[in-house]
Parts: sequence; C-alpha cells; structure tokens
Amino acid sequence: MGRKVLVIGSGGREHALVWALKNKSVDIDKIYCAPGNAGICQDAICVDISPLNFPDLIAFVKEKNIDLTVVGPEAPLVAGIVDAFRASNLVICGPSTEGARLEGSKVWAKSLMKKYGIPTADSQMFDSPEKADLFIKEQGKFPIVIKADGLAGGKGVFIAHNLHEARESIDRIMVKKEFGNAGNSVVIEDFLEGEEASIIALTDGDYILPMASSQDHKAVFDGDRGPNTGGMGAYSSAPVVDYFVSKCIEKEILFPLLSALQKEGIEYKGVIYAGLMITQDGPKVLEFNVRFGDPETQAILPRFKGDFFDLLYATATSGLNRQMVNWDSRQCVCVVLASQGYPGEYEKGKVIRGLDKLENREDVIVFHAGTCKDSSGRIVTCGGRVLGVTALGSDLIEARDKAYQAVEEIEFDGKYYRKDIAQKGIRHLQSNKEG
Ligand code: AMP
Ligand code: GLY
Repeated sequence: MGRKVLVIGSGGREHALVWALKNKSVDIDKIYCAPGNAGICQDAICVDISPLNFPDLIAFVKEKNIDLTVVGPEAPLVAGIVDAFRASNLVICGPSTEGARLEGSKVWAKSLMKKYGIPTADSQMFDSPEKADLFIKEQGKFPIVIKADGLAGGKGVFIAHNLHEARESIDRIMVKKEFGNAGNSVVIEDFLEGEEASIIALTDGDYILPMASSQDHKAVFDGDRGPNTGGMGAYSSAPVVDYFVSKCIEKEILFPLLSALQKEGIEYKGVIYAGLMITQDGPKVLEFNVRFGDPETQAILPRFKGDFFDLLYATATSGLNRQMVNWDSRQCVCVVLASQGYPGEYEKGKVIRGLDKLENREDVIVFHAGTCKDSSGRIVTCGGRVLGVTALGSDLIEARDKAYQAVEEIEFDGKYYRKDIAQKGIRHLQSNKEG
C-alpha cells in the first residue's frame, strides 16, 4: 500500500516540499498539507488546521493513518510539535523543543558553538539595555551586529554603523520590545566580512547529510539594498561553496555540531540549516535554523535525485547513511514575485494571470507562497511573497535567463521582484574563469 504524508505550513518552501514528495518519491498514496495555499492545494489535499494546533493535527494524522509528518516553519518546532507527535508515537521529521533552541535562542546557539569550538563571530550576550549600551561604547568598534535572542521572523538582526544606530537597535529590541519576549536578551557580535551561503543538511541523530549548497537574497532591492525580507530569490549551487569550502563546512561545522548535540544528550532528527559567512579565514556560522530555508528549498529540490519520501522518513527515524542522494548537474534559480510594498504594507486580492502558460514544463516550476482563491475560484495574491518562479538550466546563466523569461509570463497588479537574482554566483564563475 502506498504511503501517506502530511506537510505542515503554507509558503513557497512547503509547496516545494509537496512538489518533491509528489514528483520525486515512488509509491506515494496521498499527500496532505495543513493548511497549504492555492498552488499546494493543486498538488496535495489541503486541510484547514493551523500549524500550531497540535491536538487537531495529531487527531488528523491518526484518523488518516499518515506515515510521516514534515514540518515547514520554525514556530511549531520551537513550540514543541515534535515532542507532542512523538508522545503519540507518530513519525515526524524535526527536532524536539530542546534541539529547536538552535534557532529559537541565539544566546543558546552561540553558547553551544563556543563550547564546542564551532567557528562563528565572537559575541557577548546581555539581558539589560544599559549593559549592552556600555559594552558597545567601550568597544567603540563598528560596524557591530545586534541580534534579538528569540524568534523575530528574520527581522531581529541589526547592523549598527555607529553608536547612535547601535543604541537605536537596542532600544527597539530591548526597550520598545518590537519583537516581544524575543528581545529579553541580545547577542552582540563582531561584523563578519565575506559572502553568504546556506547549507541545509539532514540528520537522523547519528549521521548528517548536507544537501546541495545555495544562496539566498534577503534584502528587498537589487544590490542587496533596503530592508531584509523573508528572501527574494535563491539559486543552487552556490559557487562560493567550492569543493574545499564544502569539506571545511562538514569538518568544522556540521560534524562538530552533530557531535555537540549528541554530547548534550539532545536527540535531533530533522533539518539543520547553517547560514554561513564564507570569510577569508574560512566559513563561519551566522545562524542555525532548524528547518528548510525559504526560498532556498525551492532552488535545491528541483535538483534532487533520489526518493524524497524515503530521505525524509530515514531522517525522522534512522538509516540516513544508507540513502542514495544525487544532485542534478543542472543549476537552479528561483525568483520571488512579491506584492508591491513588501516587506512593509501591501495590498492583497490581486488576480494572478499567466500561470497556465507555465504548466507542464519540466524545466520551469512555479511554487506558490502567498496565494489563495477568491469567491469566483480565481487565484489571487494573499501574502507578501506571492510566487517563486523557478527554472533549471545547464548553468546559472541559462537557469537565470529561463527564470526571468518565465517571470514575464505572469502578471498581477503590483508585481515586484529583484532583477539581480544569481548575479553574485554568475560573477563568481566569471572571475574564476578569468583567474
Ligand atoms: P541571521 O538571522 O543571524 O542570519 O542574520 C540575518 C542577516 O544579518 C544575515 O543573513 C547577514 O546578512 C547579517 N548578519 C548576521 N550576523 C552577521 C555578522 N556577524 N556579520 C555580518 N553580517 C551578519
Ligand atoms: N532564507 C532564509 C530563511 O529561510 O531563514
């Protein structure tokens, strides 16, 4: 009998997970998604249960005899969904609340890295704004990075270029409490120079398996300018992570992290996402996340070769070391189409046209994020990040060009996107050639 799987979440990352389960797994009987979006509901059976409603999710999984649950976003992981599912003897891919502190508390993650010698920026932690202020003043070193301790939807990190900016950031985090209790403590760390990359790995607690490298584009405007967003596009692979860098990431970051979790007695069966700065002194950790990246997953999974259900099932149980995983040598680029105004205020309910022109293409996939159906059944925008237009090509240039051609086919009022996705990767390749 075929296998049944539930994906939790409603963004572009979850659409990519559903798409890979559907297209890159054999013997799948049913894919459910809670709650999903307009695109996910074309590929899976959507159920209207909130990701934080654990009792209803557990009841649903039991009722439908679901074999595996895969969690997209961090909030349910940090709130204990894995502990709740395991207490009911259900198979779920993700860390327990203890392991989820890697993302849920920057203070905890930093202290773990320090204890086990995992390379990261030097840092101090403070639980009072006065002490944080004094430290920055005494240091007198800028830029400096100030991070809210807890979950802040990717918005709790500030790079201060002078004392005034530093004080303002501390004020917003710790005094005005713009991120609520996430701002009870701050981490203040050295500014690292280099190029960023994401390494997403899976672990069953005994073995850690890195997936293909990728790079996100966090700022809203071209040239990495403007406020940070959830991510405006991604590409895989990231040329900055060459063979030597990737071996170094394994040896100095991933293997020591797994061993640290084991020594701390933390059972971890899920995703480890390392946000890295590739500096002149090698790769250093900017942050750990305990889930797949968004939009990195949209650029990675089209290149996956293997059985995706088996891979996630092995992650959630054991035997990850026996999984056969390969990566398509083609490169992949995902351009996010957002609503004008995002990450600030934006309008919703705009009709999306042209999606049908991109259906059934092997090399172009449109992942939905903030989409829903209106009362007439039309697909409309209902979020800041609306679609992830994704293309495979023989190299990054071809993948980028195909993705941007596909972007032209889709129309909605207020469509906004960055024009320079993958540009850094392409520049890297060109300078390698010249060098
Ligand atoms: P985080 O959520 O910790 O990954 O930080 C968000 C973004 O802030 C990162 O993607 C970087 O662009 C930037 N950032 C964080 N920490 C540092 C650092 N120590 N040095 C330079 N940039 C940083
Ligand atoms: N792409 C950034 C994140 O998923 O946190």
